Amino acid sequence: MALSERDKVSGHMTTGHEWNGIKELNTPVPRIVYFFLITTTVFAVVWTILMPSWPGVTGYFRGLLGADQRTAVKLSVAEGAAERASWTNAILDEDFATIQADPALMETVRETGKTLFVDNCAGCHGAEGLGNPGFPNIAQAPTMWGGDPATIMETIRVGINASHDETRYGQMLAFGRDQMLDLGDVDKVVTYVQSLSDPAIATPDNTDEISEGATIFADNCAACHGETGAGMLDTGAPNLRDQYWTYGGDRASLRHSIYFGRQGLMPTWEGRLTPAYIKLLALYVADMRTAAK
Ligand code: HEC
Ligand code: HEC
Repeated sequence: MALSERDKVSGHMTTGHEWNGIKELNTPVPRIVYFFLITTTVFAVVWTILMPSWPGVTGYFRGLLGADQRTAVKLSVAEGAAERASWTNAILDEDFATIQADPALMETVRETGKTLFVDNCAGCHGAEGLGNPGFPNIAQAPTMWGGDPATIMETIRVGINASHDETRYGQMLAFGRDQMLDLGDVDKVVTYVQSLSDPAIATPDNTDEISEGATIFADNCAACHGETGAGMLDTGAPNLRDQYWTYGGDRASLRHSIYFGRQGLMPTWEGRLTPAYIKLLALYVADMRTAAK
């Protein structure tokens, strides 16, 4: 066991320990380590005095700064409500035209409306409102009940064929099943309806069928769908002349619609969404329709 000596290479003293000729240098702990040790300890002590920290028997030391997460949460909830109140009140109080002319309010309509629409409506109508089989495209198709914000708001409020006392009734009758038309007549009117949106299906061979279908249509369908089949807002009967179909415009779907009838269910949202949210969604849908044009 050698005594401590000065190492020739580094100039440091050794500790005097030696293992098989390897000697340990006696180098001091770097200053920076002491510096960090001292600052972090001081910081920790000061912090426990400023912030809630030491447990006691009946409670805990609350800290000199009075910091409290509960108060912080309460404050931010109150701030959120106040912030929303500023626009919910504006949405409720202002008329549609005023809101539509206010870019800041419309920004709220687009942002909040998107969330509300995705949460409540997209399951049936699709995230962009483009519809799904059995659920109409409400962004682009001509409306069955009316596309101005006030009418849309009423549709959302009471629903269609829904449980609300004032719900809208949209009843496509089951002409085949309920024996109002025989199968041959159903087929003829199917061909006629097809020809409304797709004139190309008319050939010299089916001229008679189409004209007989037109007569059947005038007698049985025009009262709801209008003489030209362009739809009627009073009955909620859709336009049959365009490319938008709730249930499908192919022969089989048309035959099904006319034979079995259709009564789509649009739920009522009164009581499930606040009046402000219903009005906001009406504005959102109207805005979506303008954007889609
Ligand atoms: C359970 C499915 C379902 C949900 C959810 C739903 N809808 Fe509908 N909606 C329908 C159906 C089906 C129709 C068509 C009813 C008919 O024509 O008989 C419809 C029709 C509409 C219409 C009328 C379209 C027109 O041509 O006049 C509007 C507007 C509308 N929905 C908006 C909404 C909004 C906004 C929401 C969300 C708050 C929503 N819908 C949620 C099924 C749904
Ligand atoms: C009492 C009113 C009424 C009468 C009469 C009526 N319809 Fe309808 N029709 C409707 C309504 C309302 C709808 C929408 C139903 C829905 O969306 O659920 C509809 C839907 C349809 C559809 C489905 C459209 C789509 O987008 O998929 C077709 C096709 C149709 N009708 C054809 C006819 C034909 C053909 C006749 C005559 C034989 C007729 N309708 C008579 C009210 C009527």
